[in-house]
Amino acid sequence: MTSDTTPDTTASVHDSDARAREIEEQLTDDERFALIIGVMGQIAQFAPVRDERIPEGTTMSAAYTAGVPRVGVPALHMSDASMGVTNPGYVGREGDTATAMPACIALGASFNPALARASGGAIGREARSRGFNVQLAGGINLMRDPRNGRNFEYLSEDPWHSAVLAAESVNGIQAEGVISTLKHFCLNCNETNRHWLDAIIDPDAHRESDLLAFQIAIERAQPGAVMGSYNKVNGEYAGGNRLLLHDVLKGAFGYLGWVMSDWGATASWEFALAGLDQECGVQSDTRMWGAEAFSEPLRQAFAEDRFPKERLSDMVRRILRSMFAVGIDTWGPTPALDMAAHNEIALETARQGIVLLENDGALPLATDTPIKVAVIGGYAQTGVASGVGSAAVQPPGGYAAVVPIGGAGPMGAARNLFLMPSSPLAGLRKLLPNAQIDFDPGLTAAEATLLARRSDVVIVFAIRPEGESYDLADLALPWGQDALVDALASANPNTIVVLETGNPVSMPWRAKVRAIVEAWYPGQAGGQAIAEVLTGAVNPSGRLPITFPADLAQTPRPELPGMGTPWGTPTTIEYNEGAEVGYRWFAKTGANPLYAFGHGLSYTTFEYSDLEVEGGDTVTATFTVTNTGGRPGADVPQVYLTEAAGDTRLRLLGFERVDLEPGESRRVTVTADPRLLARFDADAGQWRTSEGAHTVAVGRNAQDLVIDAKATLAERPFGA
Ligand code: BGC
Repeated sequence: MTSDTTPDTTASVHDSDARAREIEEQLTDDERFALIIGVMGQIAQFAPVRDERIPEGTTMSAAYTAGVPRVGVPALHMSDASMGVTNPGYVGREGDTATAMPACIALGASFNPALARASGGAIGREARSRGFNVQLAGGINLMRDPRNGRNFEYLSEDPWHSAVLAAESVNGIQAEGVISTLKHFCLNCNETNRHWLDAIIDPDAHRESDLLAFQIAIERAQPGAVMGSYNKVNGEYAGGNRLLLHDVLKGAFGYLGWVMSDWGATASWEFALAGLDQECGVQSDTRMWGAEAFSEPLRQAFAEDRFPKERLSDMVRRILRSMFAVGIDTWGPTPALDMAAHNEIALETARQGIVLLENDGALPLATDTPIKVAVIGGYAQTGVASGVGSAAVQPPGGYAAVVPIGGAGPMGAARNLFLMPSSPLAGLRKLLPNAQIDFDPGLTAAEATLLARRSDVVIVFAIRPEGESYDLADLALPWGQDALVDALASANPNTIVVLETGNPVSMPWRAKVRAIVEAWYPGQAGGQAIAEVLTGAVNPSGRLPITFPADLAQTPRPELPGMGTPWGTPTTIEYNEGAEVGYRWFAKTGANPLYAFGHGLSYTTFEYSDLEVEGGDTVTATFTVTNTGGRPGADVPQVYLTEAAGDTRLRLLGFERVDLEPGESRRVTVTADPRLLARFDADAGQWRTSEGAHTVAVGRNAQDLVIDAKATLAERPFGA
């Protein structure tokens, strides 16, 4: 017998459509119009006065949407972002801090969907405990350009990898009863003049790259909302792009949730006709475009029959459907927060995300001898660097320090170096009790080399704060750090570099140093994780989610369009690489990068053997991975398509993180999503595999392919 009170989740998902339909019918037009806008919370910088549509006593956040209590429709309380619950100075929330997870690029480097799920869960619980029922997470734009200021908020340059991890992070959040977005739909792959940026791409190539990432993540996680992007795509603003929103997202992908705008991305009420369901951050639209498009202008169009009632109802139904499907209307008591457990997730993500790029045997450091260690630069005595913008999270206890940077553009005043309170220097002192460790801030090379010369080993920390609304002018380290590293390596050949960056850097000193560690922005426990990797307490297992080019000349756009123009200059960016993003571009051009996608060293070694592949409708590859070294460690074998019926083409088909003891072997099986083997044919509106032999390889990274085998596929059109 089933009790009336036991929720049947399958039924409730199916019911959410019916309920949304039923409740929408009971609403007044005023209530409908209130549901399709999100009003920004009171925040000194962007909305200094509380908007009267936000009731007094409401917890301030990125946006608020009035509910309709008489029919059980809750208000929406939206909070940023993918790395934790943010609080960039909301009035009334002084001191409200949250777990600051490592940057998404570090999570991407873990190649570990289970960690994405766990950190999503922690973020969802922390959002919910504050009453936030929409988390503006799920950043999934592909890393097309190593200068993109927001790459640290995204997962990788590969659609499959990005989709699998983003889906788990959305699943983690939504399992806590909090709606998650996926964002930014679509092609917000550069920040330069982002409101005036026209991203040009071949529509088929778009389906095989950025759109495929969204499509797969949507299938695997059903995010309640999708956030549009600021830029245009092929001449139309993404937020008002009928082809993208109506035909592709809601049509071909069958997406049932709602599309919200980014803050200040709704230039016109007509975006509603194209498929945008909700205008968010309305005050930014008044600043940008002179009006709140979905308030007076849309109401007027509606009153004059220029905007159909059925479309208004559809917008509202989509919002209600997601509310009911995720269950934000049936919250029980607030879950208790275990902040120590959340810190553990942040720590584990940092550990698994750190990538050992180079090591000639200098690492791990000897822990049992009284070595003299020089720790230099990067504020290593204070904490670790992080990214800036709407995704920046203040950790419990606040930042260890905030160094103002400033700059032009809408986020200029908010541009800072935020240091997370986990000092690598303190971490090293703890794990190297027998060593003599001295610190030098690295202010000048002359001063720092004095310490370097009298030390056995030099560990130099090099940082670069990156963030929203900026692209990097080049791949150099700021503040003269490249010259500093070079001078230190000349002074002491036993030099190890630890990078805290959100993107690849150029490393002109690379050949002079003994080891290079990419720690990204490793979050609130990052200093500890770095120390553990350097001392071997943790065996590094991160793999690059983005190709490190040798120089920008190797990338599809050596010159970045719009770079150097004043903010607001209309700019066209041609993503001519199409679907050949990142490692695919390098495979196509034959260029040799500094470090390939998927690259990452370990303190042990792994071998691959006994590859068997099966063809048919898709490809299944089974192989053995063996830990052939002397330490336990995790490997991430990667399966690639290298050739499809005579067409040379590199595609990541799958990967698996495998923990192995020394001498241990495991059989791994990867079955490819057939879309990764196919081409998209826009005329037919379908995917198509070609008849013939397909070569599949198992590799350590996109360039180091170890074994391969062939499978035969049939010519087959499928899907949409
Ligand atoms: C960002 C979004 C964010 C929104 C709300 C925008 O500047 O692009 O990612 O969710 O602000 O804070």
